[in-house]
Amino acid sequence: MSFKITIEPSETTFIAEKNETVLAAALREGIGLPYGCRNGSCGSCKGKLLEGRIEYTNVPLTGINDEEKSNGYALFCQAKPLTDIRIETRQIDAIGDLSVRKLPCRVDKIEKLNHDVLRLFLKLPSTERLQFLAGQYIDILMLNGKHRSFSLANPPHDDEHLELHVRHYEGGVFSEYAFNKLKEKSLLRIEGPLGSFFLREDSDRPIIMVAGGTGFAPVKSIIESARHKALDREIHFYWGARSKEDLYLHDLAMFWDKEMERLHYIPVLSEPHEDDQWQGRTGLVHEAVLEDFEDLSGFEVYACGPPPMVHAVVDSFTERGLSAEYIYSDSFEFAAKSNSTS
Ligand code: FES
Repeated sequence: MSFKITIEPSETTFIAEKNETVLAAALREGIGLPYGCRNGSCGSCKGKLLEGRIEYTNVPLTGINDEEKSNGYALFCQAKPLTDIRIETRQIDAIGDLSVRKLPCRVDKIEKLNHDVLRLFLKLPSTERLQFLAGQYIDILMLNGKHRSFSLANPPHDDEHLELHVRHYEGGVFSEYAFNKLKEKSLLRIEGPLGSFFLREDSDRPIIMVAGGTGFAPVKSIIESARHKALDREIHFYWGARSKEDLYLHDLAMFWDKEMERLHYIPVLSEPHEDDQWQGRTGLVHEAVLEDFEDLSGFEVYACGPPPMVHAVVDSFTERGLSAEYIYSDSFEFAAKSNSTS
């Protein structure tokens, strides 16, 4: 049995399966509703039940009081429809809809992805979740008052852990710490979500994504989110690296290429090793895009990597007819991030 949920004022509709909460059903269908803890304690998901009946199977709930309930409010992270329902709540589809928070977290797992990239999985306290848009980043707040920025590599719907890709920089404060001292169970403080590099879902333009090095991380979040939402747009994903070992999740990207009908993965190596036996594309990653597309005027471009790569994308793609308003890179922000990802 399933129930139809209608959101006001947008008139968006989606279906909840039996025993599914309103929030879980919305996220499964790629509809952004506000939330924080997802366990009934923070109240962030509160909205109005205008019509129909719901039940709560996890009680007590500290995020809502009896007066609010009798005034028609409900906690959608816990409310399970018993009939078709009509609700009133805001929807999350832009950064202005999200609140930036400082949170403690624990390093749950550390994985070495290749010779110079670590993958960290951070776990927030059990009463907290971080709501963000695919492509955004967080700051790690350090004891000396400085911060280091890292893109979130997990997609928003898969938020049990926050996934970061940390590249080794000689002498980099956080990078050296992460490679030499950070242990599983270490505690960190973060702030986020931050940044305006996220997938614009109100467009139907075909997408070109250009990533360099760990610029792969936000692209991973965006592509996994697009896959989850069954986004019906062409995505051409170019990943530039020096040699094959720098394509640190190449198999995952190959998997997307195979599984997602409209996604095309094009790895590009600038200095392949002889023993890479590389048969694929070579050169600079933005040049590979220029070789493939004479006219870029109809595309939307997401560029993420070292500032010289981002600048080359902006300069050369606009010369090929792409209006700057369709290039999402936030090169100032990315420069600031790059300087601080050490
Ligand atoms: S998300 Fe915190 S109470 Fe629902």
